[in-house]
Amino acid sequence: MGKDLKCYNIFDLRRRALRRVPKGLFEFVDRGTEDEVSLRNNRAVFDSIRFRTRTLVDVSKRNPATTIFGVEHNMPLVIAPTGTAGLMWYEGDLALARAARAAGIPFTLSTGSMTAMERVAEEAGGELWFQLYMWPERRLSHQLVERAKASGYKALVMTVDGASAGNREYNIRNGFTIPFTFSTRNVTDMLLHPRWLFGVMMRYLVTTGMPTYQNYPAEARARLTAGPMGRSSLRTDSLNWGDFDALRKAWPHKLIVKGMLNAEDAARAVDRGADGIDVSNHGGRNLDGIVSPIEVLPEIVEAIGSRATVFVDSGFRRGSDVVKALALGADAVMVGRSTLYGVAAGGYDGARRALEIYHDEIRRILALLGCNRISDLGPQYLKMADPTLRAPLPGRPALRAVADTEAAEA
Ligand SMILES: Cc1cc2nc3c(=O)[nH]c(=O)nc-3n(C[C@H](O)[C@H](O)[C@H](O)COP(=O)(O)O)c2cc1C
Repeated sequence: MGKDLKCYNIFDLRRRALRRVPKGLFEFVDRGTEDEVSLRNNRAVFDSIRFRTRTLVDVSKRNPATTIFGVEHNMPLVIAPTGTAGLMWYEGDLALARAARAAGIPFTLSTGSMTAMERVAEEAGGELWFQLYMWPERRLSHQLVERAKASGYKALVMTVDGASAGNREYNIRNGFTIPFTFSTRNVTDMLLHPRWLFGVMMRYLVTTGMPTYQNYPAEARARLTAGPMGRSSLRTDSLNWGDFDALRKAWPHKLIVKGMLNAEDAARAVDRGADGIDVSNHGGRNLDGIVSPIEVLPEIVEAIGSRATVFVDSGFRRGSDVVKALALGADAVMVGRSTLYGVAAGGYDGARRALEIYHDEIRRILALLGCNRISDLGPQYLKMADPTLRAPLPGRPALRAVADTEAAEA
């Protein structure tokens, strides 16, 4: 179990991370795009969903374990891909992967991570998934697919919500770039955080050199020029259904599409062979003013039914958030910042602590709901306090059940 680091919830880990890492880096992880309306709404939306509890249920044998793609996991959580884990802590990707393995959940390595996928597979193991961004030269991305296949990754996560980089002005202002370049501003920032400077940056410099994208093929790495973080050359604005079909053909294992918020798109992806859909707004990092995944989750669940596995992410910080999403029809939740705060706060122990917090919170909520198993969760455990969460989406079974209960009571 992870040391508690005197952190009792994810927000405590966030505060600890804030003290440890340079401000520019912290803001890169923590903040959203433009005016951060999406970022705020991703949290606010949970407040308008309330629990309905059952009592006099024996919950002494409750268990938050669940099955994802036929494999039993200790809880319905997956670590989402986040390119900069390796900057939060020395070899942070490995720390996250090991923490996921110890907690019994999958870990997703990002195209933009600082540790080569082969090393993560060899040194951390566990249930590993690989997230893919597509370069304009498709063959470079397909090289990564072949490497992921050869290294035993179990699922490929195709991210589709990055046709353009989000507009994050603070990154430019803070002067944090990848590969790193030194400016007066970020050097001062680093000097003010000596534990990070010596424990992370200097350790890289005396071992493997300046941290950079270790999964990029040599050709792509050679062309890399320093750009503000989040504006790297990872994207192509020509990504389309043909790319999805090509990936489906090339990848023999589970294929998850990440970043869909439209039921028609999700159903189309499943029709063309997707095994999973991750309903996500990229943690409020790409388009400001976008809907929160929770707001469209029920219609997507309805559109794809049981034909594919539904993941959801963006804004999850509490076990109660996770349980609400599951009751609305998701099969599992992906967390991005929660475990990044953890790893920044205390490496492996911090990441472990974040996962332990989720496990404890989910178990507690199950008890208080009067529910023993994840598969028993459903809309009968919820009441939507904000009618707009329901009103524009008539006919969804999940929310119709809530409406029916409320109507019967009125
Ligand atoms: C610092 C950071 C880096 C990220 N990098 C990637 C990435 O490389 N690929 C990707 O598909 N999503 C990336 N994401 C998005 C996450 O996978 C996930 O959708 C998001 O963090 C979920 O929101 P949450 O942070 O509120 O949990 C990143 C998110 C953060 C915070």
